[in-house]
Amino acid sequence: MNLEDLPIRADLRGKTPYGAPQIDVPVRLNTNENPYPPSPALVADLAAEVAAQAGELNRYPDRDALALRADLAAYLGHGLTTERVWAANGSNEVLQQILQAFGGHGRTAVGFEPSYSMHPIITTGTSTEWIGASREDDFSLDAGKAVAAIEEHRPDIVFLTSPNNPTGTALPLATIEAVLSAAPGMVVVDEAYAEFARTGTPSALALLPDHPRLIVTRTMSKAFAMAGTRLGYLAAHPAVVEALLLVRLPYHLSTITQTAARVALRHRAELLGTVDTLRRERDDTVAWLRGKGLVVADSDANFVLFGRFPDRRAVWEALLERGVLIREVGPPEWLRVSIGTGDEMAAFRAALEGVL
Ligand SMILES: Cc1ncc(COP(=O)(O)O)c(C=O)c1O
Repeated sequence: MNLEDLPIRADLRGKTPYGAPQIDVPVRLNTNENPYPPSPALVADLAAEVAAQAGELNRYPDRDALALRADLAAYLGHGLTTERVWAANGSNEVLQQILQAFGGHGRTAVGFEPSYSMHPIITTGTSTEWIGASREDDFSLDAGKAVAAIEEHRPDIVFLTSPNNPTGTALPLATIEAVLSAAPGMVVVDEAYAEFARTGTPSALALLPDHPRLIVTRTMSKAFAMAGTRLGYLAAHPAVVEALLLVRLPYHLSTITQTAARVALRHRAELLGTVDTLRRERDDTVAWLRGKGLVVADSDANFVLFGRFPDRRAVWEALLERGVLIREVGPPEWLRVSIGTGDEMAAFRAALEGVL
């Protein structure tokens, strides 16, 4: 029996699943993880905390993850409190819950492409219609055109990604405010890479007090170096959190997940301590690629989009043959490299020189 033989939903027929390759090569620079593993001290603290909780794993976890949400609110600052913060298994699950509560059949979501490929996948997965509007040639967002797209489509949800994946582009607050003024429904600002932004780049968290329909999503998968923990979160008006309680599965965040995330937050000085190194490595990578005569998008994230290669697949494959895995994503002719350790970036540069 094949997939086509099953009575699957018509709108899922012919779709391809999310699929960044997971290939075991020496240098993996393709999913925007933080390359620095947790220290032995952090691992020991985590193991001790998990051991302390393990004797109660016969019980369900705290369904509302109150202690974790309080810790996340304290980390975010901006006067946020537990009731304004929500958490789930990765920001992907947070986004899915937002779509379940505010999207659905007969509703629409607008995003500005190229952007994060999971936004349309999660949107259509909840039977919400996806409308892709476009960014400028330099991947910035023209506020006037964004407002025009919103006025044309009157979407239930608008996605803004800042810094944007796969381009690295951050949005000025004025653009986000223009979108908030025009949007008839919810506005999601996906800030998965916020901690990597260049100094002076503002967070949409600052806009929350004046905008009850704004949702800012974050993750511990990137700067926090905890991709394996699967912990994403959001900040919004308390009523938005109430809406998400209607669609979340009971006990969706395991005791182990909540514990690991709290330990990571306690060790945030160590975990976020790598961010400055990664930003420097990113800026050096941008400069080096430009020095090679390549076109490179400005980046406020932990990855760099560069091109242009008439046959990008050939370049991607030639790098892979040299043991370096990057990502074939974004507009045609462009490739994206995640920022790794100094040694990994040296290996990337050596491999790319060989290919060019
Ligand atoms: C823009 C953006 N949002 C959200 C995510 C999802 O992250 P996670 O589900 O690991 O929190 C990613 C991951 O690549 C991303 O690039």
